Amino acid sequence: MAQFMNGIKRTNYCGEVTKANVNQTVVLTGWVAKVRNLGGLMFIWLRDRTGRIQLFFNEDTDKELFELAANVKNEYVVAVEGIVCARNEADVNKDMKTGEIEVKVTKLVVLNEAKLPPFHIEDKANISDVNRLKYRYLDLRRPSMQNIILMRHKIAKIARDYYDENGFIEVETPILTKSTPEGARDYLVPSRVHPSKFYALPQSPQIFKQLLMVAGFDRYMQIAKCFRDEDLRADRQPEFTQIDLEMSFVDIDDVITINEGFMARVFKEVLGVELKTPFLRMSYADAMTKYGSDKPDIRFGYELIDLADTLTNCGFKVFSDALANGGAVKAVCFPAGHYSRKEIDKLGEFVKTHGGSGLAWIVVGENNEIRTSLGKVLTPDEISAVVAKCEAKPGDLICIVSGKTNVVYTVLGALRCELANKLGLIPENEFAFLWITEFPQFEYSEEENRYVAVHHPFTSPMEQDIDRIESDPGSVRAKAYDIVLNGYELGGGSIRIHDSELQGRMFKALGLSDEDVSERFGFLIEAFKYGTPPHGGMAYGLDRLCMLMAGATNIRDTIAFPKVQNASCLMSGAPDFVDDIQVKDLHISINKEDVKVEE
Ligand code: AMO
Repeated sequence: MAQFMNGIKRTNYCGEVTKANVNQTVVLTGWVAKVRNLGGLMFIWLRDRTGRIQLFFNEDTDKELFELAANVKNEYVVAVEGIVCARNEADVNKDMKTGEIEVKVTKLVVLNEAKLPPFHIEDKANISDVNRLKYRYLDLRRPSMQNIILMRHKIAKIARDYYDENGFIEVETPILTKSTPEGARDYLVPSRVHPSKFYALPQSPQIFKQLLMVAGFDRYMQIAKCFRDEDLRADRQPEFTQIDLEMSFVDIDDVITINEGFMARVFKEVLGVELKTPFLRMSYADAMTKYGSDKPDIRFGYELIDLADTLTNCGFKVFSDALANGGAVKAVCFPAGHYSRKEIDKLGEFVKTHGGSGLAWIVVGENNEIRTSLGKVLTPDEISAVVAKCEAKPGDLICIVSGKTNVVYTVLGALRCELANKLGLIPENEFAFLWITEFPQFEYSEEENRYVAVHHPFTSPMEQDIDRIESDPGSVRAKAYDIVLNGYELGGGSIRIHDSELQGRMFKALGLSDEDVSERFGFLIEAFKYGTPPHGGMAYGLDRLCMLMAGATNIRDTIAFPKVQNASCLMSGAPDFVDDIQVKDLHISINKEDVKVEE
């Protein structure tokens, strides 16, 4: 086995050898993906990050070389020299990029052997998530994973190029910083030098990018690591990456236009997809009314139907009370009339797991006969009125949910997607973008008994609503916008407040005392007194963008070394215990009871 490259110089990447190279001598390096020894004839597939290529050895091959090749195993690291040969028509492998050629090997050097891997390194292998993440470096060797990581690189590069060409400069902002007001829990780092003080890892570079506008950089971008200690989901990681940007002297349209340009560019260059711009814009209020969601998937219709007018005076107290108490009764109607009772009951469970109290339903049979859960509580006329309002046709299922308006939205918004998915109504390979605008500035937190900022406290209210900050905060709309793709929030941002007086009113409305404000954001408030330009910006989740572009269903697949549900890394074992002395240096102590739970 050769310990070093010993002068071996690769001439080509495996996946890049083509018919144009026929009769050339090439030197290739990579990992053995497969060995097929048919006696006098042997094939080896060699793999690198560009793809696979077929090597062959036959009766003309030097005996010693044949012997050496016969002993290589999957995942050995080898270098070969050989001659590129065209394959016979019948032997062309259409599933392989290099399927028209193969390489007749004349020299082989085993650069390293490999232990039997815990799973087959191929795309179709059925590998448990635990094994994939424990041996992530092997999982990442699989072509599909390599393609996603390569795509991610391309997206990041295009982002840097695009924003650079549009006058943005990349500035790094600190990782060890002061807590930012994004709303999730911070990851904290205890200070050794300042006993009992902590740095917070940034939830986003929000405050720093605003300070860069105060500093006069005019246009900033950064591919920024962000950290949020929140419950994980398929589209959330504790450590994720934003394409973050901020611009001075702009309003909403400027931010939106520049970012539509970025989306068009990245989709064209990475996927060859032409996006139609400008994207649709929809107010938050419209999105909630139509889709029950502020990140609606508009690849399909099936909008929510309001049954308030139809059922205000109905005899069923659950509905009439919900409406009398300012709540809602709404429905979705899908071609699911063929669903069995059991399947409908499952939808009822779904409703409950999303916070609804239950599901009422009406099936319109093929001959307009009605099956319903409401037969005992609504009159036939009332049922007919609901069917008419929903414009239900034979074969349709109407799902009705009642209760507090926001709960009804959440439940039906989720049910709409669930049914569309189950019934195969979501078109594939379609990218349906839209901007959601006019978000509420404040939402009331029952928990904290005060209004909290929906976005963050530096988001500007819409000019026409400023007068109502004190008198009717719930009705104030923000100059905030989210970019939504296929039902995912891809990014979001806002125009910021740059006026100290307005900022002060915002803090007051949020119930923050002068002390709170100066303690938490003092340095920002101070900075704003020295000449702050009007500014605004946004941030994309790079991981989410990559997930949607790659057609993945979990952002984990777009991150080289991700965390699992409980925020640990199965490969490195982080987080982990540290030496007592390290803890002591940080002036903190560990609660031994907690340690037992963890063990
Ligand atoms: P926001 O909190 O909306 O805005 O975040 C912007 C985008 O970041 C992505 N994202 C995440 N991706 C993976 N895992 C997570 N835990 C996670 N959290 C957020 C989403 C989201 O749309 N500073 C503001 C932006 C601004 O106002 O300019 C901010 O961070 O795709």
